[in-house]
Amino acid sequence: MNRMAKTALVTGILGQDGPYLAKLLIEKGYKVFGMIRRYSNPNYDNLDYLGVTKKVDFVEGDMTDESSLINTVRTLRPDEVYNLAAQSFVGDSWQMAKLTTEVNALGVLYLLNAIKFFSPTTKFYQASTSEMFGLGNTNGYQDENTTFHPRSPYGIAKVYAYWMTVNFRESYSLFTCNGILFNHESPIRGIQFVTRKITDGVARIKYGLSKKLSLGNLDAKRDWGFAGDYVEAMYRMMQQKKPDDFVVGTGENHSVREFVELAFHYAGISNWEKYVVTDPRFKRPAEVYELKSRPTKVHKVLEWKPKVSFKKLVKMMVDADLKRFEYA
Ligand code: NAP
Ligand code: GDD
Repeated sequence: MNRMAKTALVTGILGQDGPYLAKLLIEKGYKVFGMIRRYSNPNYDNLDYLGVTKKVDFVEGDMTDESSLINTVRTLRPDEVYNLAAQSFVGDSWQMAKLTTEVNALGVLYLLNAIKFFSPTTKFYQASTSEMFGLGNTNGYQDENTTFHPRSPYGIAKVYAYWMTVNFRESYSLFTCNGILFNHESPIRGIQFVTRKITDGVARIKYGLSKKLSLGNLDAKRDWGFAGDYVEAMYRMMQQKKPDDFVVGTGENHSVREFVELAFHYAGISNWEKYVVTDPRFKRPAEVYELKSRPTKVHKVLEWKPKVSFKKLVKMMVDADLKRFEYA
């Protein structure tokens, strides 16, 4: 190991963003430690997909187990901690509100305390979310000044974590920042999320493995970008002289229906209406109807802009799922 290499601890390393961030940090010369929770059979597929599994050092820890976080931070004393771990599926958060709160809210407090007591020079990134805005908007968009009105236990837990992150900065002068990221997707997006559910479903239909795709609210609108672009914004936030909070998004939004239409189109299937059925099981007790960022600050201060357009993103995901089934 290069002794001068910077060190980063990434929680949530096995999810979607963890592997993209690990790849970026490794390319920048970092030594990356990835925190994984105890599993009888952990799944390294996403890290494998990006070819970085062997380049990450794994440490065991769980966001609900304070002592594991203390031990990890005390032992590693990393330069940077990126807290990506979460129960991140909004749809499940009503059914598992307590777990969601323990992981997404209290877990963040534990991690911040571990840094405060055992490694106060460590910089901290919190994976905050546009889901905190919920119904809040300013003339149809959301930015750093928009009021939070979360609509799910997930969003509420994330609001707590957001403010704790701000409070540790204000109270103890720690370097802590929030990236308020709008939806970002990729070929390794979890299968429950609507984009990947659609591209996986389309590929199954294409290869005759499925006849229908059941979805919930087709009118919901999201500001969708590519995860590979968004981890660059996380990194840039942590290289600032002063910690701050940033909204990260594309500045445009599209409906679930538009995503569906394009995905079927790219798979070469006409008449998408023939295959898509709406199922109330996939509707939410309280919906966030529309999210759209105003990413002026991130453009100006971090000089960050997304590279992958909405159309390119849909095509990338459709192509990846078609390829998976081609060899299945
Ligand atoms: P993801 O794919 O669901 O990954 C979340 C990771 O957290 C998984 O690796 C999971 O571990 C881990 N985790 C869950 N519970 C844990 C616990 N108790 N202890 C330790 N690790 C735990 O999520 P993502 O899309 O990469 O998102 C990364 C972060 O950004 C999340 O905090 C999410 O809430 C936030 N965010 C995401 C988006 C987006 O559009 N993707 C937008 C805004 C904010 P397992 O692999 O073991 O399940
Ligand atoms: N998952 C899912 N499944 N969503 C559906 C479906 C379906 O069958 N049908 C319609 N939708 C609608 C949801 O109601 C929601 O309005 C929208 O599609 C997007 O849902 P998800 O892809 O599950 O993402 P999300 O916006 O709820 O949450 C994601 O983005 C947040 C940032 O805004 C997650 O990644 C969160 O972790 C993240 O914070």
